[in-house]
Amino acid sequence: MGLYSSDKIEEVARATDLVALVSLHVDLKRGGVNSWKGLCPFHSEKTPSFTVSPDKGFFHCFGCGVGGDAIKFQMLVSGQSFPEALRELAGRAGVSLPAPDGRDSDPSRPTKAALHEVMKAAQAQFRAWLLGDVGRIARRYLRDRGIGLDIAEQYGLGLAVSGWDHLHRALTRQGFSPLIQREAGLIKERGGDSGGWYDLFRGRIMIPVSDLEGRPTAFAGRTFLPEAEEEEGRNVPKYVNSPATDIYSKGRLLFGLQQARPHIRVGGLAFLVEGYFDLISLAAAGVKPVAAVMGTALTQQQVNLLKGQAKEVFLLFDGDEAGQKAAVRALPLLFNAELDGRVMILPDGHDPDSFIRRHGVEAFYDEADRAPDLADFYVARLKAVHPDSLGGQARMIREVKETLAQVPDEAKGHVLRLRLAESLGLTPELLPLGAAAGPAAPLRRAAAAASSPSAEGVDPLARHFLRHVIIHPECAVLLTDELAEAWPQDRTKPLFDQLRAQWLADGALNPGKLRLDDDSLSSLVSEAALSERTHGPQESATPGREFARKIVFRADKLAYRQLSQAVRQAEASGDRELVKRLVAGLKG
Ligand code: UTP
Ligand code: MN
Repeated sequence: MGLYSSDKIEEVARATDLVALVSLHVDLKRGGVNSWKGLCPFHSEKTPSFTVSPDKGFFHCFGCGVGGDAIKFQMLVSGQSFPEALRELAGRAGVSLPAPDGRDSDPSRPTKAALHEVMKAAQAQFRAWLLGDVGRIARRYLRDRGIGLDIAEQYGLGLAVSGWDHLHRALTRQGFSPLIQREAGLIKERGGDSGGWYDLFRGRIMIPVSDLEGRPTAFAGRTFLPEAEEEEGRNVPKYVNSPATDIYSKGRLLFGLQQARPHIRVGGLAFLVEGYFDLISLAAAGVKPVAAVMGTALTQQQVNLLKGQAKEVFLLFDGDEAGQKAAVRALPLLFNAELDGRVMILPDGHDPDSFIRRHGVEAFYDEADRAPDLADFYVARLKAVHPDSLGGQARMIREVKETLAQVPDEAKGHVLRLRLAESLGLTPELLPLGAAAGPAAPLRRAAAAASSPSAEGVDPLARHFLRHVIIHPECAVLLTDELAEAWPQDRTKPLFDQLRAQWLADGALNPGKLRLDDDSLSSLVSEAALSERTHGPQESATPGREFARKIVFRADKLAYRQLSQAVRQAEASGDRELVKRLVAGLKG
């Protein structure tokens, strides 16, 4: 299935008229404003429970539970494999796919070089607008935030003017086809019969995200017009971001790294911040070795970009719980890349932008001097977060194991294990050796198996939670790290992982983009997608949180049970040393 990008697959699903497709096999009647009903072709029934929602792009039979998207339907009625069904539907809908051998056989599909060209042209146009007459208000906005034209030029900032298709028209005049503009994520197709295209970025300060060769591969557009904020209130997102394209993926690049690299190499240190304006503001104040993640969790690929460049990485994440967790999660990633981490938590709730503008560069470097080592920070946090109780200690051990599991290299894993065990007052035997090979792995697997009623079944608690989140997408905030750690290793895991990945990458859930091989999961999704909300947006968090709490509680209980079992076993085998060590470990 890896042959086709998820965007491509979604494009085929979207381009397919689901009602027309199903109608080839089922006699459909209107069942509601946006839904159609008929007799299920997959089981025999007398009253129609087979439902199609063209808006949502799903079908579901409330009789036999079968469900999915257009591609799934095609697979089921024709017996085709996924790629066969996809190619068939693509052919009918006129969507071009890369050839099955993976080579780009489609001449109309833009090459990477062509994408780079159109992005370069877009950046030049944005820049011209920022520097021209239309850019007055935008320039003032930047100036008010301490960003002069020199910095704007260094980071290639620009302006997307208000209106619908100014960029589209400018690029078309320069000879770029709509197709390539679309593939670059710069324009979108207008709905309705009239057709046509509109710009993705309108009325925004434009920030290019460049690769290490300095080529713009994506844009972020920030609102700056006071009207925009008043007019549509909370509906206007602060940033509009380029979608993933053939030349851009959020988790593979660090913003500003191209400009920062020489400075990082000279000083051997790098500051890592969370957003565009934090970075630009630091750069404007003269702090140059800075790179930024773009609103998503730090990845190993991003950290590897710093490997061999810096020795020490200063993490400037938010001081809140989420920020501290993000710092902790960075520990194994940095360690894998042989980098030392330091944690800078700025006082008084400042972010780097507000801090540097209030207190200046010197105070910023003073804070850096004071920043604790990441490993020390981690240990202190573990001790602070987990109470001395048995349950608390069990949870702590589980968390440490998760961290160790992120370090695949055996020697490094050993070093980290010894260091953490020592600092936590645990015996190293309590912690697994390598990521997979450690003595705890069988234990963990057993826990995972035990946490679902049957390995093949769908854990009911997990099912309730997933269904609730799909019906109430605002509950995506509940897809936390903690829940990911506690999630049962049953069939629902891929669905949970994909939803969480969507939430982390896009800040939104898109059931139409899920790729599930498992029929019971696609049935779960289509059923939920076609279900009405049971709670309003204000109330939905409460039941969602309750499901999540139960799942976490269950995992904690298991971890504790395993630990006490280990103690009992050691007692039974008369291994007094081990008993002592385990108990000592539990006490911390
Ligand atoms: P912030 O809200 O802190 O943004 O989000 P910021 O860049 O510091 O902007 P200012 O200071 O309010 O102007 C941090 C990062 O999260 C991502 C962006 O990468 C942003 O820089 N983000 C945030 C989005 O992608 N979309 C959003 O709507 C908000
Ligand atoms: Mn900010």
